[in-house]
Amino acid sequence: MKKLAVFASGNGSNFTAIVEAVKAGIIQATIDCLICDRKEAYVFTRAKEAGVEAFYFNIKAYDSKNDYEQAIVAVLKEKGIDGIVLAGYMKIIGETLLKHYPNKIVNIHPSLLPDFPGKQGILDAFQAGVDKTGVTVHIVDAGVDTGPILAQQSVEILKEDTLESLKKKIHQIEHDLYSKTIQNFLQNL
Ligand code: GRF
Repeated sequence: MKKLAVFASGNGSNFTAIVEAVKAGIIQATIDCLICDRKEAYVFTRAKEAGVEAFYFNIKAYDSKNDYEQAIVAVLKEKGIDGIVLAGYMKIIGETLLKHYPNKIVNIHPSLLPDFPGKQGILDAFQAGVDKTGVTVHIVDAGVDTGPILAQQSVEILKEDTLESLKKKIHQIEHDLYSKTIQNFLQNL
């Protein structure tokens, strides 16, 4: 059984969906730890409820991003982690993590990449007035929201949609699409 670490920075609805997908046998791997860079993130509560060991890393406590990532890698190696699942992790993955986990880090982004990369993919698509956006799951490389695409699913933006209703639709798609795609991604590990 492959061992996964989930990285998250905030609410963690995708974290919970992944944990549930493991329980349901949709993802045939174990979630061995949560790595989080924000102390107050709600995802810590979710990890506690799910019985997943959680680690907080404060980048300010390190001299460089390299040192910060080295500290994370030390935990991952100690736990025998095979692959990393980013679920709302708000930092760009640096060269240290990429070197230790080449093609073994997967990300979910709330737009149809290459459209609307960056921190606010849902808002950017909504404000651009496009009639379609969606969700992309991709392998992480050195770019921001670049890297080989594993799966995409689109969603219409209807006239009556608000930013909130669009967010809700996107998250629903994410929770389903990410679990199925993570199961396929396990072949890379
Ligand atoms: C998701 O929209 C994901 O696509 C993006 O960050 C958000 C995380 O949401 N990368 P949550 O914390 O999993 O609820």
